[in-house]
Amino acid sequence: MRVEQVRNAHFWGLASSRGLLADLSADLLPTLFWGFTPDGGSLALPGGSTHFGFVWRGWALLTRYIPRRRQTFKLGAGMYFACPEPCQVQGHGGGGGVVVSRVGYEGMFQIGGPVNLGEGRLRYIDGGSTSLLVAPPRKGDPCINHLHFPPGWKQSRHKHPSLRFTVAYQGQGKCTVPAYPDGSGPDVEISVDPGSMFIIPTGGLHAIDAVGSSPLDIVTYHPDTLIGWTDDIHPMLESTSIVASPVGGNDPVPAACDSSVMEMCRRTS
Ligand SMILES: [Fe+2]
Repeated sequence: MRVEQVRNAHFWGLASSRGLLADLSADLLPTLFWGFTPDGGSLALPGGSTHFGFVWRGWALLTRYIPRRRQTFKLGAGMYFACPEPCQVQGHGGGGGVVVSRVGYEGMFQIGGPVNLGEGRLRYIDGGSTSLLVAPPRKGDPCINHLHFPPGWKQSRHKHPSLRFTVAYQGQGKCTVPAYPDGSGPDVEISVDPGSMFIIPTGGLHAIDAVGSSPLDIVTYHPDTLIGWTDDIHPMLESTSIVASPVGGNDPVPAACDSSVMEMCRRTS
């Protein structure tokens, strides 16, 4: 079946078009899903959210509105961005893409890519691999990932504790989900092609296979993260050894010292 033909408890397919594609602003982790195309003008994205975008075809202009000025960036296919300010996106050259807005979240501005289509930097289930494209600044924040599936790769059926949004970038794939909410019933097989967009709702059961002789590369949004940096554990603090405090200075000991930074706390107490 085609992506846009399937909507059940495990899979919400989205048609590729300009404008708002899905509104999950009432979700526990409120998120809006948008599309942009080369025709029909710009996609205007409001403030109060961080907008995560990906260009899967052609190229796009991203205009970022910050106090008293604006900045415009040209993004080619395979490039991505995170923008915590109001912005506009316009596809060009047959360009198309997606934007996911995490409502009420203030991220950090970033542009990256094109996505490296080789193996990811980290292992994933069943021998796949993944790279973190937009990292969560703090534990709990949203993130964007690239997943690389070798030709003929088959994935175990699995689920996640929050929704996932996927846009396919290159290659051919197949997503298989159960027909019924309880996980029973016949398999529903959905074709995943470049530009295919879909939401896996929280707890949705799914498996994505790479079909054919080419790798499958997809980009996935997570509205939250279960691991990440905190005030007590992060690269800056972990590599800091205080040898003398300034006279009249602030208390250098972190407010909370857990076991992983206790050694540093002992040195500074
Ligand atoms: Fe998954």
